Amino acid sequence: MLSTEDNELLTRVGPGTPMGELLRRYWTPALLVNEAPTPDGDPVRVRLLGENLVAFRDTNGRLGLVGENCPHRGASLYFGRNEECGLRCPYHGWKFDADGACVDMPSEPPTSVFKDKVTLKSYPTHESGGIVWTYMGPPDKITPFRDFGTEALAPEHVAASKMHTTCNWVQAMEGNLDTSHVSWLHQFDGVEQIPDDGSDKPGYPSNAMSWKFWRHDRAPRLEVEDTWYGFKYAGIRTTPNGFTHVRMTAFCYPYNTAVATVPFGVRLGMFVPIDDENCWRYSFTTRVIDNSRGVGGANLFAVAPFKLARAEVNGNGIVPREYTAENDYGIDRDEQRTLTYSGVAEFASQDLMVTESMGPIYDRTQERLGTSDRAIIRMRRLLIAAAKDVQAGGEAPATSDEHDYREVRSAEKILEPGEDWRVLGTNDDPLVQEMDTDWAADRQPVAGS
Ligand code: FES
Ligand SMILES: [Fe+2]
Repeated sequence: MLSTEDNELLTRVGPGTPMGELLRRYWTPALLVNEAPTPDGDPVRVRLLGENLVAFRDTNGRLGLVGENCPHRGASLYFGRNEECGLRCPYHGWKFDADGACVDMPSEPPTSVFKDKVTLKSYPTHESGGIVWTYMGPPDKITPFRDFGTEALAPEHVAASKMHTTCNWVQAMEGNLDTSHVSWLHQFDGVEQIPDDGSDKPGYPSNAMSWKFWRHDRAPRLEVEDTWYGFKYAGIRTTPNGFTHVRMTAFCYPYNTAVATVPFGVRLGMFVPIDDENCWRYSFTTRVIDNSRGVGGANLFAVAPFKLARAEVNGNGIVPREYTAENDYGIDRDEQRTLTYSGVAEFASQDLMVTESMGPIYDRTQERLGTSDRAIIRMRRLLIAAAKDVQAGGEAPATSDEHDYREVRSAEKILEPGEDWRVLGTNDDPLVQEMDTDWAADRQPVAGS
C-alpha cells in the first residue's frame, strides 16, 4: 500500500514532477528507428513523458526531436514542411533546424535579428538497437548513453518492437516484475500432460518443464537483492521432485526489466511513459547468445495454447492490439473454464487485461500487498527514493558509464545443492561466460605474442 502522496510521486511523469525529473536523467526510447522519417520525409508525432514532440530527419539525415508547437504562435510543426535542412512552420514560414535553432524568419524584415533570439525546444537523439533514444533532462546534467549491448549489435540482429498500453507505466512494469502471476494468469489446462523429459533435477530445465514447476508450486518465496543497477530477485519454487527452482528477474533503473529466462536472458523490456495514463512497452534484443548446446530446448510457447501478438514482418515494429478493454480482451468464458486460466487467447493481452483493468492510474492506497509482492515493493521504494534524491540535487542512480550495462541479465535454473541464486546471470556464472560471447569477447585478455 502507498500513501496518496507517494502514489502521485511514483506515477506522475510530466515536466517538473519529481519522477518526471528522475526519468529525464536517462536516455529514453522515443520511437523505433523504423518509425523515424527519411531525409526530408514526413514528420512524425511523438508523445513522451507528457510532452508533445515531433521527429523529423533533415536533408543531411540528422534526426531532430523538437517541441510540437511553433514558438511563434503555437501551430503544430507536425504539419510543417521538411525542406532544405529544416522544418518550416506552415503558418508564417519560420524554420528550425534539428537542434531547434531558428534558421529563417521570413515574416520579419530582413534586417531583424529576432530569429537569433528564438529557439524551439529540442532534444538530442541517438540511434541504437532499432530504437531512437533521447535525453530530455537539463543539458548540464546530461548522462552517458547506457549501452545494454545494442551498440555492437549486427544489423541483422537488431530487433525492437513496442506495444501500446493504456495504463500508467509503473502499473505495467509491476506486471513484468511479478513472478507469482505465471502460476495463475498464464496457466492453461494441459500443463499436467506436458511429458516429463527428465529435466526436473539440478541444472537447467527445459522451457516446457518450467510450465510444470510454475503450476506445481503456486506460492513462490521471494528473495530480493539490491545491485548497482537496481535489484534482482529470486522467485523460489519447489519442483515435483523436491528440488529448488529459481526464476531470477532483474530491475534496472528507471523502467527496465529482464524477465526470468532459461538459462539466462539479455532481452530487455522497457516501460516508457507516453504520459501519466499511457505507456509503450518496448522490447529489444541487446545481443545474440551462443546457445549452440540448445539449453532450455524448445521455445517456451511451443507447448502453450496461446496466440502471440507480433509486429508485422517488414512493418514498423509496432505490435498491434487485437484485444483491448473495448472488446473485453476477447475473453472467452468457455475457454476460461476448459482451456486457459484467463480466457484470453493472446499471451501479452492476458497481462494487459489485468494491468489495464486496474484503471489508468491505480489508487495504491486500496491495495493489500502480500509476501509475493516483495519485488514490487522494492521497485517502488527505490524509484521514490531516487526521485526525492534528484529533487534534492543528487545524481540519478545507474547512470554512470563506469558500469557495464550488459550485466543486466535474468536467469532461471534448478539449483545445485548449496548453489547461490545470486550468481546466476552474473559475469561469474560459467554459462554466461560460455554463451554471452559478445560480452565475453570484450573481456578476454588478448593473448601475448
Ligand atoms: S505559428 Fe509558426 S510561424 Fe507563425
Ligand atoms: Fe505476464
